[in-house]
Amino acid sequence: MKILVVGGAGYIGAHMVKWLARAGHEVIVLDNLSTGHRDAARYGSLVEGDLADEWLLDSLFKDNQFDAVMHFAAFSLVGESMVDPGKYYRNNVAATLNLLDAMVRHGVRHFVFSSTAATFGSPQSERITEAHPQQPINPYGQSKLMVERLLEDYDRAHGLKSTCLRYFNAAGADPEGELGESHNPETHLIPLVLQVASGRRDRISVFGDDYDTPDGSCIRDYIHVQDLCDAHLKALDWMRLSERSGRFNLGNGKGFSVFEVIDSVRRVTEHSIPYEVTDRRRGDPARLVADAAFAQEVLGWQTKYSDVDTMVAHAWWWEKNSIVI
Ligand SMILES: NC(=O)c1ccc[n+]([C@@H]2O[C@H](COP(=O)([O-])OP(=O)(O)OC[C@H]3O[C@@H](n4cnc5c(N)ncnc54)[C@H](O)[C@@H]3O)[C@@H](O)[C@H]2O)c1
Repeated sequence: MKILVVGGAGYIGAHMVKWLARAGHEVIVLDNLSTGHRDAARYGSLVEGDLADEWLLDSLFKDNQFDAVMHFAAFSLVGESMVDPGKYYRNNVAATLNLLDAMVRHGVRHFVFSSTAATFGSPQSERITEAHPQQPINPYGQSKLMVERLLEDYDRAHGLKSTCLRYFNAAGADPEGELGESHNPETHLIPLVLQVASGRRDRISVFGDDYDTPDGSCIRDYIHVQDLCDAHLKALDWMRLSERSGRFNLGNGKGFSVFEVIDSVRRVTEHSIPYEVTDRRRGDPARLVADAAFAQEVLGWQTKYSDVDTMVAHAWWWEKNSIVI
């Protein structure tokens, strides 16, 4: 297949581009490099540009007969979305509309979308299935839910088939050590704790140790980036075969607490990890864990790297060996 990967220079998108290239597909990456890295897109052909540029989208679709589009491009800092919501609605919703309209104009009918657990808002059950109410509590989650909703209308009106994959916490790195997570600012727990191990950071803050969890710290569901890539390709195959649209929660179904992640980093890196307990963050639920049974059943998807030490080990390899690109 010939696939357009939008946001393919970012953390998850770059792993996807490599995964697709390995599977023998031809990949064009569209990325404005706002948070991505030119070098990370090297397994595809990079077109540097912005989704907001309709002319660029038209010429891209005119020059290439794409079989499908995978859309990773978005801003995704929850805190920033609270203080500058317009930035999130413009990039995550309005720019996505440009992309969908270009697909409709050029007859491309298969779309895989990076959605998020943040569309669910505060959890009302131990594990989150697709049936859980979607009531986002920040503009980031809201922007992703808006795209999920408008995709339903694009299916009805234009027959555009979409798969929305709601990731929980993406983690880990390319097991071959060629790609990894390099966000700036970094807000994700595993790379932050690894920065303490490598000496780039003095200590890690634990936001509250008095939650109703076994060790008092928050529990989150970490899903290896390679497992996410596998799910994307399976979702695309399923969509093309069934000619249906679908929504799937992607997590590994096991939650790990902040203290368990810190312990894992100590074990894997053999470094001490100083930490300080600070106040809870507003809006942080005690526990956020996916029920991914639907994706397993429908897509035939299984996680391969569900062990936290494996995710940490792959990310540690990247942290130790990457020059900042
Ligand atoms: N990382 C996670 O844990 C996680 C969890 C749930 C959902 N997601 C979603 O997955 C997707 C990928 O996440 P990530 O961590 O790889 O993010 P990332 O910031 O590393 O990658 C996003 C990429 O999109 C590009 N981009 C952004 N706006 C663009 C635009 N208007 N035009 C062209 N390119 C643009 C950026 O330059 C970057 O390369 C995002 O949509 C995010 O919301 C991520």
